[in-house]
Amino acid sequence: MGVNIKDVAARAGVSVGTVSNVLNNPERVRPATRDRVQQVIDELGFVPSSTARQLVAGRSNTLAYLSFDLRNPFFTDVARGAEDVAREHGVGLFVCSSGQDRDREDEYLEQLTELRVRGVLVTPIDQHNPRLQKLRDNGVPVVLVDRPPHTVPEDWCAVGVDDVRGGELAVQHLLDGGHVRLAFAGGTDDVPQVADRFAGASAAKGSATLARFETTDLSVDDGVHVGERLLGMPRRARPTAVFCANDLVALGLLQHLTQQGVSVPGDVAIVGYDDIEWAAAAAVPLSSVAQPRHQLGRRAAELLLDEAECLHTGRRHRHQRLLFQPELVARTSTRSHP
Ligand code: RIB
Repeated sequence: MGVNIKDVAARAGVSVGTVSNVLNNPERVRPATRDRVQQVIDELGFVPSSTARQLVAGRSNTLAYLSFDLRNPFFTDVARGAEDVAREHGVGLFVCSSGQDRDREDEYLEQLTELRVRGVLVTPIDQHNPRLQKLRDNGVPVVLVDRPPHTVPEDWCAVGVDDVRGGELAVQHLLDGGHVRLAFAGGTDDVPQVADRFAGASAAKGSATLARFETTDLSVDDGVHVGERLLGMPRRARPTAVFCANDLVALGLLQHLTQQGVSVPGDVAIVGYDDIEWAAAAAVPLSSVAQPRHQLGRRAAELLLDEAECLHTGRRHRHQRLLFQPELVARTSTRSHP
């Protein structure tokens, strides 16, 4: 078993608290004692636990981002924005994911409470999860990521995008392309982001029809399955344009249709959501509703660090719930002409 802080204290003839002060508050220790303890640390090769050192100092140097699904580049792009801000402030970022599994989300929230990280960014499955308030009750600030202000209480910080507006933009783009038989594909209303996008699509459709293809997840495979269901419909009833809840579903649909010899956009137009890097790189460049992913991560981390600093210094923190706007990016997958 490795050397621990008690071994150092015994060899140096001092208390564990003195060794801890040498590591965390050296100005509190007489120079002669400090030198003797440091000599023993070097002799024994003691490596203090950074987490323990941070806890003793009462201040973790680590933020955490509990994301929703790390398979989805949307969330890794958000994490990169948060990581950039964390590094600018000299702190680390621990990234994990609930994988849309509530038990896993609870496990991570319990661990982060025990670890007493400096703050937690979270894209929650259920933003009313009592473990989120438990974190705050334990002095760990929480910022909700990818949640629009109207769903968040005023005494929380949050960043989100107007997904209802995003749904409207996607459908209006398809209507402008002359489509009247539309479909919305991917996820269910259990995912708030999906529910908002479908609400926007429904509000904008006018006299057009809007079929719904629900899926259990929001992956490329789900998009392939939507393609199988779409091609199983009689051609005269088949939608000629599909708005997908995110780019992964759209890329799966695109993959299946092109493999089956169905022309995109000639037979079926497709628009996705997020505008991840792979949208533009797709075999048929994908039209998508862009979200400012990196900026979402940056601003969320800035809000979190400010709240943590206020908790540490006693300065008053002003909670903010920031709403960003989506933007339609039109590419080949919806253009009636190349
Ligand atoms: O995880 C589902 C979707 O919600 C992601 O693709 C992203 O759009 C997020 O807002």
